[in-house]
Amino acid sequence: MSTEPSALAMVPFVSVDHMMKIVHGTGLQTFLTELAAYIEEDFRRWELFDKTPRIASHSAEGVIELMPTSDGEVYGFKYVNGHPKNTKQGLQTVTAFGLLADVSNGYPVLLSEMTILTALRTAATSALVGRYLAPKGSTTMAIIGNGAQSEFQAHAFKAICGIERVRLYDIDPAATEKCARNLQGSGLAVETFRSPEEAVEGAQIITTATADKQYATILTDNMIGSGVHINAVGGDCPGKTELHRDILLRSDIFVEFPPQTRVEGEIQQLDPEHGVTELWQVMTGAAAGRRDAGQITLFDSVGFAIEDFSALRYIRSKLEPGSNCIELDMLADPDDPRDLFGMLMRAG
Ligand SMILES: NC(=O)c1ccc[n+]([C@@H]2O[C@H](COP(=O)([O-])OP(=O)(O)OC[C@H]3O[C@@H](n4cnc5c(N)ncnc54)[C@H](O)[C@@H]3O)[C@@H](O)[C@H]2O)c1
Repeated sequence: MSTEPSALAMVPFVSVDHMMKIVHGTGLQTFLTELAAYIEEDFRRWELFDKTPRIASHSAEGVIELMPTSDGEVYGFKYVNGHPKNTKQGLQTVTAFGLLADVSNGYPVLLSEMTILTALRTAATSALVGRYLAPKGSTTMAIIGNGAQSEFQAHAFKAICGIERVRLYDIDPAATEKCARNLQGSGLAVETFRSPEEAVEGAQIITTATADKQYATILTDNMIGSGVHINAVGGDCPGKTELHRDILLRSDIFVEFPPQTRVEGEIQQLDPEHGVTELWQVMTGAAAGRRDAGQITLFDSVGFAIEDFSALRYIRSKLEPGSNCIELDMLADPDDPRDLFGMLMRAG
């Protein structure tokens, strides 16, 4: 009997190299726009999904999380970490990979890198939400925290919300220089600043994407004028927030999945009963998004499993036999399904 893996044993694997080729083959702006459409489609069928707050394992240095969900036909999960001190040792703050499986038989159908994909899906989600909440005709976004996520955010808001200008600030000027350099030729006008107060001046959208495993105050109340949309990306763990509480009290707050955001998001600073609007309801028209020009809107982003599910679903749609992936011998597939032991012994 052959010990070669059968077709059933094989699972398509999208490596980092494949992911980069898919993004370049599609074009970054098109990729972000198409990905946002997949996320929007899944938010609109929110009620179908199995939903649970992600399962977090905290340590002194960071967190490792599992993010599962299912739409009844396909199951997905992501493994992701967050270690704010990693960059000092030449490691990334966030790395990730994920999997889709067929609910009818439990067999995995896709395994993929998700470090790059997480940055893309986070930015696509932010910009999709920005389309519902940012002031009409927004042209300018401030980005506080110019690390790994920052350029993705800039490109997504250009592609999806039509912003033309970004104003950058990071506590580390080298990060701002890197971000500005990477955005050269993007079609965005880029300005850099030495204080967050200067960076947010005149911006209709303010994105915070800093990393610090502690309560931080990246934005204070006096920095936020009326009518602004805040896209708060970096506060995404218990004990890790970016905004002064007073800003939250003046804002209309929009969240992904309240049971997770109440533990991980900016709203961990508020009373557990404080009113928030679920984004899926805004996207289905069941709840209002931005109502008027003076309102401060806040997307308290923490990242939810359905966004990763959408991202994997989108990547799966990009795979053609033999391209953009390799087949991994990942599932033991004995000729007689009950003879797993025999299969192992015959290989000796
Ligand atoms: N909401 C989500 O869906 C989601 C998804 C991915 C990552 N995140 C979070 O977004 C944040 C950014 O991720 P990243 O991969 O870009 O991290 P990163 O470490 O690459 O970049 C973070 C940047 O923030 C800067 N910074 C730290 N404190 C600052 C301060 N007080 N003022 C200004 N800048 C400051 C750092 O110098 C660094 O350049 C992290 O907290 C991460 O956990 C959220």
